[in-house]
Amino acid sequence: LIQYPHVSRVVRSLFLTAFVAFGIGAFMGVLQALHRTGVARLVDSADYYTLLTLHGVLLVIVFTIFFLAGVFAWANTRSLDRPPVSKRFTWFWVATMSVGTAMAGIAILAGLIPSTDISADVLFTFYAPLQAHPIFYIGLAVFIIGTWLAGIDWFRQYLAWRRENAGERIPLQSFMVLTTMLMWFIATMGVAVEVVVFLIPWSLGIMPAPNPLLTRTLFWFFGHPVVYFWLMPAYLLWYTVLPKIAGGRLFSDPLARVVFVLFLLLSTPVGIHHQYVDPGIAEGFKFIAMTNTMFLLLPSLLTAFTVVASIEHGARQRGGTGYFGWLKALPWRDPAFTGMALAGLMFAAGGFSGMINAGMNINYLVHNTIWVPGHFHLTVGTAVALTFMAASYWLVPRITGRKLYSRPIGLFQVVLWFIGMVFMSAAMHRGGLAGIPRRTAEPQYPQVTFETVAGSVSSLRLQLAFGGVLLFVSALLFLMNVGLTAMNNKPARNLDSALPPALSGPDQSPTVLDNLKLWALIAVVLVILAYSLPLYSIVQGAGLYPAGQEASPAVIAPLLEVIA
Ligand code: HEM
Repeated sequence: LIQYPHVSRVVRSLFLTAFVAFGIGAFMGVLQALHRTGVARLVDSADYYTLLTLHGVLLVIVFTIFFLAGVFAWANTRSLDRPPVSKRFTWFWVATMSVGTAMAGIAILAGLIPSTDISADVLFTFYAPLQAHPIFYIGLAVFIIGTWLAGIDWFRQYLAWRRENAGERIPLQSFMVLTTMLMWFIATMGVAVEVVVFLIPWSLGIMPAPNPLLTRTLFWFFGHPVVYFWLMPAYLLWYTVLPKIAGGRLFSDPLARVVFVLFLLLSTPVGIHHQYVDPGIAEGFKFIAMTNTMFLLLPSLLTAFTVVASIEHGARQRGGTGYFGWLKALPWRDPAFTGMALAGLMFAAGGFSGMINAGMNINYLVHNTIWVPGHFHLTVGTAVALTFMAASYWLVPRITGRKLYSRPIGLFQVVLWFIGMVFMSAAMHRGGLAGIPRRTAEPQYPQVTFETVAGSVSSLRLQLAFGGVLLFVSALLFLMNVGLTAMNNKPARNLDSALPPALSGPDQSPTVLDNLKLWALIAVVLVILAYSLPLYSIVQGAGLYPAGQEASPAVIAPLLEVIA
């Protein structure tokens, strides 16, 4: 980005916010891991939900999405080779996202101050009947508007390029940015309606408490595609940057395009799979959601094939030979490569535990147990977060012009994250199979014993806490390494950001893949098919505002008391 210093500044500021959120979120994570296992209780159990909300919101909304915005701003500019249309507009959406984040963050943190009546202990799945202060919901709405403006900015940048390049294929990275943002525009409709129509008026006390099932359904309309929103920048990096670092070229540009189109089509009509145990949604609708979910395996398996084929090509360019011998020729000492490779490996494990979650019947075994955080610490907590950390070792020198402070520390850090996650996530999965619930500061109840298949519950607790501590140390090393890189006096050398063309290039990919209007239209139709009848029957069943609900936060106070 040397020729576009203004874009570098934008990316740097987005990454800074992402990393601050990551640091605070990781600190909350280790506090939780130590607390709920009883290894060290450094906070009051009554504050557990504030910490958990902070952990969830900072890591899966702020860290992931700010980092995504930085990667997309970089990738769109790099691949179109032109800056965004208006500097002011770009800074405007950065500011909008930041103001929204600050509002939501302040509302959550205020929950720790007993003298205020502001709090937002509603977890990152902020549906009714848990209620937060209006500042939290307004902050979320402002944040989402900021992300929409970012999407508009990237589309304007693309359209300006298109005017000068009629008939050209959309450059691959830009194609990935645009399809992901189309998916995001569709997916966020659910959360926008939930927050603006129901939660904000309810929290202000001007409307009654909404039908909880309705807000849950609107939340999950957005809550599942958001996981692909976290994942797509990681895919972008695996498809376009990883092959270069491995010394080769992307195996297939057409396959990469097909994968992003499939995610645009299939990400949203699956959200009901989070509601298998919700009464009030007919089993048939749940079955449709399950079927759509299983189709999502297809783009993930295509990705596993394409990315491994690209890496193998790189290894063979470096002199690797044999069926498996080529693995030795890969740049394992490079933290960017090793981190992304380990992240991909963990994603495969996360895919398997995800299939258990997705199965309508077997889901009952693990529903609301600690198995579920075990699953998503493999996916968003490692496939995404570790890819972001590893990619930072490649990207941060490119946006700061400074040499990476320490490659060995980087390498140690990414491996430590992998090991920490093996401990923490395995213990969570096994604890879930024993029935240990998630989201509780006190998972031990009188007269309830949890039976493990092998080993004891106390050994699982220790493994979870140990893994959590390793992860926290890894997070600190990462922040120290990128922080010292940003302040490094030594300039970075060999900052070539050119990405080699794919072995099977865009000219071999059907032009219909670039027809974004067509894919967006099909995606909308699929969403209407999947959601119109369930939403209609929910509203028919209990109404928008169930009878007897008053327009007063007092409705929720007894529930909050129970939780506290
Ligand atoms: C939940 C620990 C990093 C996302 C949890 C829980 C623990 C934990 C113990 C379960 C709490 C409970 O259910 O009672 C840690 C540690 C981390 C870490 C020690 C690293 C230092 C991450 C990362 C992400 C993440 C990198 C995502 C990018 C989440 C989410 C939840 C969660 C979304 C669920 C919150 C909820 O149930 O509302 N974490 N985590 N964590 N973690 Fe992490």
